[in-house]
Amino acid sequence: MPKIRIGLIGYGGIGRVHAAAYRAIPFHYGLPADSIEIAGVATTSGETAKRAADEIACGFYTDDYRELLQREDIDAVDICTPNNAHHEIALAAAGARKHIYCEKPLAMNASEAASMTRAVRDAGVKSQVTFNFRFFPAVMRARQLMESGFLGRVFSFRGRYHRASYIDSGKPMSWRLQRAVTGGGALFDLGSHILDLLYFVLGEFDSVSGTLDTLIKERPIAKGSAETAPVDVDDIALLHARTLDGTLGTVEISRMGTGATNDLSFEIFGQKGAIRFDLNEPAWLSVYDARDAAAPLGGQRGFRKVEAGSRYDGQRAPDWTMSPDFMRSHAECQYQFIRSIWEDTATAPSFNDGLHVQKIMAAAEASSRNGGWVKLADV
Ligand SMILES: NC(=O)c1ccc[n+]([C@@H]2O[C@H](COP(=O)([O-])OP(=O)(O)OC[C@H]3O[C@@H](n4cnc5c(N)ncnc54)[C@H](O)[C@@H]3O)[C@@H](O)[C@H]2O)c1
Repeated sequence: MPKIRIGLIGYGGIGRVHAAAYRAIPFHYGLPADSIEIAGVATTSGETAKRAADEIACGFYTDDYRELLQREDIDAVDICTPNNAHHEIALAAAGARKHIYCEKPLAMNASEAASMTRAVRDAGVKSQVTFNFRFFPAVMRARQLMESGFLGRVFSFRGRYHRASYIDSGKPMSWRLQRAVTGGGALFDLGSHILDLLYFVLGEFDSVSGTLDTLIKERPIAKGSAETAPVDVDDIALLHARTLDGTLGTVEISRMGTGATNDLSFEIFGQKGAIRFDLNEPAWLSVYDARDAAAPLGGQRGFRKVEAGSRYDGQRAPDWTMSPDFMRSHAECQYQFIRSIWEDTATAPSFNDGLHVQKIMAAAEASSRNGGWVKLADV
């Protein structure tokens, strides 16, 4: 397979994760080390770009991402910037006929996400959103069980994503707290992940009713500063949602979940069975089969932990019994994107999937503003 040369745009917290994950792919799959190369990096200043290039050991760096797009030795760009730059960069990259791997949430709003989806379709380039949590084998097994009809009629679902990342009122302002840069708060940052997982496992959403709130409304403009600025995005979002096939569920999203670390989980209840996934137990999917015989002392009935482990198709290392983790989920998400370029197949999660999640979030915001249920078709 030809070498895939990546231009990394943005090298903050997640840019580093992406760089490390690309490096890991050849080891996971027994590929030549140079089958994936980070050929260039762009940030917003020459100094940070140079530092990034030194860390990655890549030959080209710039403070203007457009220079990456002009280069013949770059096949795909990876957008790891704050959310307000995703749309502009993706449109420019599609215009330059580069494949695009873009961090979540896809865009600032549904209309930007729709325009990005059109741009990649018209340019005929591959595009994928970094909804990396799809790439835990236990989550993939959950979808497989749903598709096989194991649960029978689905009664309801419940998703949650709690972190405690903003409980300190002294935590200063940052781009994640400014609507003009981030588009939305916890709903966009954490909610996009859990909503994508529910969409991946359950199918398309129809409508949402939600309440969003900002619990700490002013924050210091810098660490230790007495001067404050208003926070204009949500810290917490509580949703009711209905899928296109009529299943009702709840989704709780909060960055004020005291005691939480990275607490993402979902449960789906059906007539014949139920499933539970908990990111803090990533090697397992809990499965309940209501067809198991009951007995006077309970028989075998009850939730079972199914050993999903690291069952990645074709993986050479590590052994499947090892627990997958955050980094492995990123490497797998990237690997599937690269495979879609090599094999000329459809990508997933696609920009169209990113657009669907964006519509769920837009419906939740509209419902919180105006009350009532909001259909995705109306946002
Ligand atoms: N999937 C995940 O697990 C995950 C985790 C964290 C963040 N994210 C997403 O990744 C993105 C970045 O988040 P982060 O935490 O790394 O942010 P960050 O603030 O740590 O880093 C942002 C980087 O983007 C660069 N940048 C900003 N504007 C740019 C531009 N116009 N051109 C080139 N570079 C530019 C900055 O210089 C910096 O290097 C966001 O969309 C966020 O939602 C995803």
